[in-house]
Amino acid sequence: MIISKRQQQTEDLLSRAGILPVVAVDTLDQARGVANALLEGGLPVIELTLRTPVAMDALATLKKELPDFAIGAGTVLTIDQIGQCVGAGADFLVTPGTPTHMAEALASAPVPVIPGAASPTELLTLLHLGFHVCKLFPASAVGGLAMIRALHSPVPQLKLCPTGGITEASAAQYLAQPNVVCVGGSWMVPRQWIQAGDWTSIRDTAARAAQIVSQVRGG
Ligand code: 3PG
Repeated sequence: MIISKRQQQTEDLLSRAGILPVVAVDTLDQARGVANALLEGGLPVIELTLRTPVAMDALATLKKELPDFAIGAGTVLTIDQIGQCVGAGADFLVTPGTPTHMAEALASAPVPVIPGAASPTELLTLLHLGFHVCKLFPASAVGGLAMIRALHSPVPQLKLCPTGGITEASAAQYLAQPNVVCVGGSWMVPRQWIQAGDWTSIRDTAARAAQIVSQVRGG
């Protein structure tokens, strides 16, 4: 089944990353600045969200300029955006939530996919459709660590990328859960640093995030 191969690729990509920065940019220069700061800090995978007019252009530009940087498109809300993101070179796609029509369209996307879900029923629906790697969003608001721990017992095959409300202080605890493949968040790329061009703070916070991955996973 094609979807299980893609989902294995998703799991491999997210496990290697450990932490997935969730980024929104207003200009191409901001996109370049953030990407370089994250790379220097040791985080080579990002979710670039489609929340600003420049996002699709930024995706295509970064893929051309930094071909080895893994760039996912985030906040993918429509079927049209799936094709546009793939056309722009997205390495993977992320949704904040996944209604059935999107799940069906994502199942045939030619790149790895991280579909979002917020409840056990939504997660089980995605699992039934072949997605065993999902984004739990908004993680801290829907139960955080307690929910992730509770899900492990009935569905240990489900691998999660919790995102939403996770901080530098809480990331390690999330990442240490056996059913967490990666932790997503914007704490290393807050809008005010991006808008101020504070690449040093982004690089340093990214470096500490990369250290959290090494500490929890070893290596
Ligand atoms: C997302 O879309 O995944 C979130 O905006 C990231 O959540 P955070 O800003 O609370 O880390």
